[in-house]
Amino acid sequence: MKGTVRYLAGIAGPSGFGSKSTAQQVTQHCLPPPPPSSSSPTPLTAIITGATSGIGEETATVLAKRGVRVVIAARDVNKASRLKQSILHQSPDAQIVVLELDLSSFASIASFSRQFLSLGLPLHILINNAGIYSRGLEFSEDKIEMTFATNYLAAAIMGHVRMLRPSWPPFCMPRSSPDSSRQGMQK
Ligand SMILES: NC(=O)c1ccc[n+]([C@@H]2O[C@H](COP(=O)([O-])OP(=O)(O)OC[C@H]3O[C@@H](n4cnc5c(N)ncnc54)[C@H](OP(=O)(O)O)[C@@H]3O)[C@@H](O)[C@H]2O)c1
Repeated sequence: MKGTVRYLAGIAGPSGFGSKSTAQQVTQHCLPPPPPSSSSPTPLTAIITGATSGIGEETATVLAKRGVRVVIAARDVNKASRLKQSILHQSPDAQIVVLELDLSSFASIASFSRQFLSLGLPLHILINNAGIYSRGLEFSEDKIEMTFATNYLAAAIMGHVRMLRPSWPPFCMPRSSPDSSRQGMQK
């Protein structure tokens, strides 16, 4: 009950943030500002699914603003390209890559993985944000119930994309890592 009231009122919790905190406020002290030029240190790279609307769009926009290279993985590449333009309008130095990905299709996930790996980019952050709620009984092209295929199986498979290149740094740096404060990552 108390928690609900705090939530509705937007009162900050132990993290210092509440339900009225914005993504910009939450990331304010976490990541470095956008690099001023291409000679700046290599940025973090994030893949985000479902960035073409809602929470994903906001997350992609704010990460780009904080200097993260954002890979927008979207089934609708036209929508994703429009988002890219909108982000570049706000953050002209942002590095945005658009790749096609339909999470309800194993073939599409495999194709996305191949394309991403061919870019030779590291992967520091994977945000499995995309999700659906299928009201009727629908099946994916792989004959798996659609919500399960999209929200769960796809997210699990996406987690393996980074494993294809074992030399990549881990998602979460230990607190003691000299880089952890700079990259804003904690275990
Ligand atoms: N908003 C809430 O209050 C809330 C509460 C609890 C959990 N969530 C979860 O948080 C996540 C984001 O929520 P939201 O409200 O921002 O969702 P949203 O506005 O409905 O956006 C969903 C995103 O997922 C993408 N997507 C759906 N199916 C896909 C597929 N097969 N392949 C690739 N992309 C696909 C959509 O792409 P298209 O643009 O192509 O449709 C869209 O970009 C979802 O997983 C949702 O279940 C949200």
